[in-house]
Amino acid sequence: MKTAITELFGIEHPIIQGGMHYVGFAEMAAAVSNAGGLGTITALTQKTPEDLANEIARCKDMTDKPFAVNITFLPTVNAPDYPAIVKTIIEGGVRVVETAGRNPTQVMPFLKDAGIKVIHKCTSVRHSLKAQEIGCDAVSVDGFECGGHPGEDDVPNMILLPRAADELEIPFVSSGGQADGRSLVASMAMGASGMNMGTRFIATKEAPVHQNVKDAIVAASELDTRLVMRPLRNTERVMTNDAVEELLKKERELGDKLKFEDIIEQVAGVYPRIMKDGDMDAGAWSCGMVVGLINDIPSCQELVDRIMGEANEIITSRLSGSLA
Ligand SMILES: Cc1cc2nc3c(=O)[nH]c(=O)nc-3n(C[C@H](O)[C@H](O)[C@H](O)COP(=O)(O)O)c2cc1C
Repeated sequence: MKTAITELFGIEHPIIQGGMHYVGFAEMAAAVSNAGGLGTITALTQKTPEDLANEIARCKDMTDKPFAVNITFLPTVNAPDYPAIVKTIIEGGVRVVETAGRNPTQVMPFLKDAGIKVIHKCTSVRHSLKAQEIGCDAVSVDGFECGGHPGEDDVPNMILLPRAADELEIPFVSSGGQADGRSLVASMAMGASGMNMGTRFIATKEAPVHQNVKDAIVAASELDTRLVMRPLRNTERVMTNDAVEELLKKERELGDKLKFEDIIEQVAGVYPRIMKDGDMDAGAWSCGMVVGLINDIPSCQELVDRIMGEANEIITSRLSGSLA
């Protein structure tokens, strides 16, 4: 399949693995890129710019295909050292950056001067248009279904993607709720040039996370995610567990008096305990509604090949066969 996204990033298939905290290590990114998609290292999971440089170098040892680095702009007072992260990415010879959180205005000149392609992930048409205006090469349009931060507009991809298609001039991929060949063909029917997946890629053989995380994804249904931190306007879609139910109880009890400090135990620093140690009740971890469509743990190559095979079959047989 040849689309604006495969051409832009020099990849074989229009499938991207979005940045994921404590999942987006070199092993994950390289496995997706070697399977013909675009894998992504998550910059903020690395404690220092030196660690990030090392992670980029490790990824280059594992693949000679293009891969991306995700820079997430967090709503935090103690901002990470973004200039140092950008410098490390440029010096590491990375060709693609995925930005998210806030728009990347502050880093665009540096990335563009280095010839890096930028795909910005956002959750609305207005943010997509802003990304286009500031010179992003593509957008990842993240619907309400998505794992992680769906924003506050609550527009699912069935509406958001055609709205983006009507307004955007730069290419975009669907993000949130994507799992298989049906997702890819549906996204493309709505105007996307490919798809971005998070949750689906965690349940793969190569994902460098504890087996408990993969098993939890396979066991869960589409009813098992919750939205947390909505009262703080920092909504996150997570897998439900004891800690999340406790967090939601606090949200109900405190109402608009809720502060971040009230829920710190359930959200701060929990990722290593979940992703590395497999302590599945340690706290809130991002997970999309798409868990309801995930029933196995294939290799990235098997997953990508299956998606492309299904997409091919749907387009050439099921859809064309239904034309009268
Ligand atoms: C465990 C997990 C961690 C994530 N961490 C980040 C992150 O650090 N930065 C980011 O931009 N997106 C993050 N995301 C969002 C994904 O990149 C992607 O946009 C999202 O998962 C798409 O929705 P899906 O899970 O339905 O495929 C995360 C998602 C998951 C599931």
